[in-house]
Amino acid sequence: MQRKLLIAGNWKMNTTHDEAVALASSLVEKVGTIEELDIAVCPPFPYLFAVGEVIKNSNIALGAQDVFYEDNGAYTGEVSAAMLKDANCKFVICGHSERRHIIGESDELINRKLLKSIAEGLFPILCVGELLTERQAGETMEVVSQQVTRGLEGVSAAVMKSVTIAYEPVWAIGTGVNATPDQAEQVQAMIRQLIGQIYDSTIAKQIRILYGGSVKPSNASELLACPDIDGALVGGASLKADDFCEIINRGLEVSRE
Ligand code: 13P
Repeated sequence: MQRKLLIAGNWKMNTTHDEAVALASSLVEKVGTIEELDIAVCPPFPYLFAVGEVIKNSNIALGAQDVFYEDNGAYTGEVSAAMLKDANCKFVICGHSERRHIIGESDELINRKLLKSIAEGLFPILCVGELLTERQAGETMEVVSQQVTRGLEGVSAAVMKSVTIAYEPVWAIGTGVNATPDQAEQVQAMIRQLIGQIYDSTIAKQIRILYGGSVKPSNASELLACPDIDGALVGGASLKADDFCEIINRGLEVSRE
């Protein structure tokens, strides 16, 4: 089965309003009409509307970097899934490693966010990935399977098609050292097999599994060519329009092969 690649940019806590608008405008101009693969950008919350306005007539989708699981109320600082829908978000990142390890989010909290996102009609991107110490201790598969299983708790087969998984080894994020295609493929194939066990083989074949961690123009082709890598979640390189577009173009070449 040919899965459509998704190249998503996670801008993290970067850009000013003007920089966000300029970056989005540049992307619309360069890659805004591409249909052979899916493209998304996830700006910081305050710039969702402004970026949404810039990309609204293009094929670039809007995503958010986080969400809360309650509808509304006394949750100072949080943003609901309905608010993200209101801002025209399609995607939402759940359980990014920076939220797991800096903010301290648990699998249970991430699962609640994911369930709420699906219920509101958003497309969550569930991030999983091991720490360097866990890899060195030979625990990668165990850690990642646990994050996947717990993150998907209560997600029915009927709605599973709205979920994307992103494998982002923590040691590869922002370090310039990406997982080798072999290392990434091994874990991503395991994730797909696990989805097959939790759900069924049809869902396992449909589900997109992205790779994230120091993806750049120079390594995008070899990573995206792996059978179980269905796109990229790009951090640093998504802040430079030229680099992000180059990664998208590498994705286009791979999907045409
Ligand atoms: P980098 O591409 O900067 O390594 O970040 C990856 C990431 O965390 C995307 O969510």
